[in-house]
Amino acid sequence: MGNSITLIATAAMGLEAIVAKEVRQLGYEDVTVENGKVIFQADHQAIARCNLWLRTADRVKLLIGEFKAMTYDELFEQTKALPWENYIPEDGKFPVNGKSHKSTLFSVPDCQAIVKKAIVERLKQKHGVANWLQETGAEYKIEAALLKDKVTVTLDTSGVGLHKRGYRTGQGDAPLKETLAAALVQLTNWRGDQPFYDLFCGSGTIPIEAALIGQNIAPGFNRSFSAEEWDFISSDIWDKALEEAEDLANYDQPLYIYGSDLDPKMIDIAKENAMEAGLADLVQWKQMQATDFHSTHEGGYIVSNPPYGERLGDKEAVEEMYRKLGSALRNYPSWNVYILTANEKFEALYGKEASKKRKLFNAFIKTDYYQYFGKKQR
Ligand SMILES: C[S@@+](CC[C@H](N)C(=O)[O-])C[C@H]1O[C@@H](n2cnc3c(N)ncnc32)[C@H](O)[C@@H]1O
Repeated sequence: MGNSITLIATAAMGLEAIVAKEVRQLGYEDVTVENGKVIFQADHQAIARCNLWLRTADRVKLLIGEFKAMTYDELFEQTKALPWENYIPEDGKFPVNGKSHKSTLFSVPDCQAIVKKAIVERLKQKHGVANWLQETGAEYKIEAALLKDKVTVTLDTSGVGLHKRGYRTGQGDAPLKETLAAALVQLTNWRGDQPFYDLFCGSGTIPIEAALIGQNIAPGFNRSFSAEEWDFISSDIWDKALEEAEDLANYDQPLYIYGSDLDPKMIDIAKENAMEAGLADLVQWKQMQATDFHSTHEGGYIVSNPPYGERLGDKEAVEEMYRKLGSALRNYPSWNVYILTANEKFEALYGKEASKKRKLFNAFIKTDYYQYFGKKQR
């Protein structure tokens, strides 16, 4: 098998360009951005590096084949023509997922069953198995995605989604996905040596992701990935990628990261999560009303995901809090303030038009990321 492969980093709606930037920063240049995914040419080493390093992607998938299919026969024959034996060993477990959008073959369960059958036949033939594939070994999760009659067949190299860094032991009512929290930090110009505050930290996701970014720690350092179990990717590849991550981490970078929340329970949870992430000393946590923000630093960054006031009865209190936040932060004109909220009246309540806005989805909630750039100091 050649070493040139096509990888697909899947991304939440709105985060594609950020994922693409991360992919390029890892050194992969042949990059195409589509809805929900970033496609790029790479080598086997990239499977380990991308899983370890991509902060904003959901998963890294390996493209096995693409073809048109408008009948079940075509789907079967073309799936069977792919070199599955190069990837899946005799005892490999290979569940098949499917999706279909605007395609003649619209029944997902039927497509899944056909793809499974085609791969079973191919593997039995190639591995010389007479009757039953045991499927007792490593897992190779397959996806057959149909879009306008084009079938894209992939293997999921990540396993559990990349947002699961392995540090979240507890969470509040509305935790941010780690991938979105990392994107919020990456959308600022914050550098590790500047003060960074989350005034509504909840379980601490934004400060924790900022600390990982600030010390250039690979977000996947503390977890495992499906492809680590795969025979066709040598363990050297993983060793090398982990060594690189260890070399690139800058544990000596001093950080000034603060997380605060009104709810003392959330502060306990955030502390536990930071400890689990191995960052216990890097973030300072405090129970505090956001509108009591005070700092003697000349400038810095506030990046927060406050409550949106969507629950019945919450709206007025939240809107009043936005007003108070606006007046409190007016005393800090040199600070950069970034607020993610679904409240469309945010700018009016906060009392200032944002320097820039960006539409983002928090799970399925349509939000805006309001960005206020601080006045440059002389
Ligand atoms: C949407 S959650 C933040 C979730 C967080 N980003 C995470 O990943 O867990 C909003 C948080 O704001 C806190 N909060 C609500 N009103 C507040 C206020 N006036 N001052 C400080 N924190 C407040 C809540 O306790 C809650 O934890």
